[in-house]
Amino acid sequence: MTLAWKMIEKRDVNYDSISIIRLGPERFADFRVLRLESLKAFSEAFGSSYEEESSFSDEVWKARIVNMLFALYQTSLIGMIGFLPRSRVKTRHIADIFSFYVSETYQGIGVGSRLMEKTLLNIESNREIEKIALSVNCDMKAAVHLYKKFGFAISGRLIRELNINGKFYDEFIMEKLIKAPS
Ligand SMILES: CC(C)(COP(=O)(O)OP(=O)(O)OC[C@H]1O[C@@H](n2cnc3c(N)ncnc32)[C@H](O)[C@@H]1OP(=O)(O)O)[C@@H](O)C(=O)NCCC(=O)NCCS
Repeated sequence: MTLAWKMIEKRDVNYDSISIIRLGPERFADFRVLRLESLKAFSEAFGSSYEEESSFSDEVWKARIVNMLFALYQTSLIGMIGFLPRSRVKTRHIADIFSFYVSETYQGIGVGSRLMEKTLLNIESNREIEKIALSVNCDMKAAVHLYKKFGFAISGRLIRELNINGKFYDEFIMEKLIKAPS
C-alpha cells in the first residue's frame, strides 16, 4: 500500500470520486471562489494577488475559465490548473502552465498529479506544442517537487521576482520539452 493511499484513507476521501473536468463559463462563480481562496491561502505561490483579482468582472472570470482544468470531489471544486498555448507566431510552440492549486485539505493525496497528468495529455495532443513553461516560487517545495516528477527542469532563477508586503522571493523558470530538438 502506498503512502498516498494511506493518506487518502486517513482523510476519508473517496479517491475514485475525484474527477478532472473542464467547466463552462456558467460555472465562473465557483472558479472565482477557488482562485480567490488560492490567492489568499498561498499568496506567495502566485504572481497575482487576492486584492487585484477580487475586483475582476464576471466577464473576466468567464473568459479565463476556458483555459482551466478542475478537480471535482462530490459537488466541490478542490483543485485547478491553467494552461494556454502562446499566440504569437514565434512562440506559439510554447504552452504556459499557471494558477495550479489544490485546496489545503486535499493536498498530498495525488490530486495535483492527476491535474498535471491530464494537462500533459492535452498539451501533448496538440502537435504544434514543443515546450511547456512555468514559473514557481523557489520556496514552494511541493510544487517544485511535483514539476520535477513530471519532467520539468529548472532553466533559470529570477532573483527577487516577487515582492509580497516587502518580503522578496526568487522564482524558478521551469521547462519541459515535449519534442527533442531536431
Ligand atoms: C503544488 C500543489 C498544486 C500540488 O498539489 P497536490 O495535490 O498536493 O499534489 P500531489 O499530492 O499530487 O503531489 C505532491 C507531491 O509533493 C510532495 N511534497 C509535499 N510536500 C513537500 C515538501 N515540503 N517538499 C518536497 N515535496 C513535497 C509530495 O510528497 C508529493 O510527491 P510524490 O508524488 O513524489 O509523493 C499543491 O501543493 C498546492 O496547491 N500548493 C500551493 C500552491 C502552489 O504552490 N501552486 C503552484 C504554483 S506555481
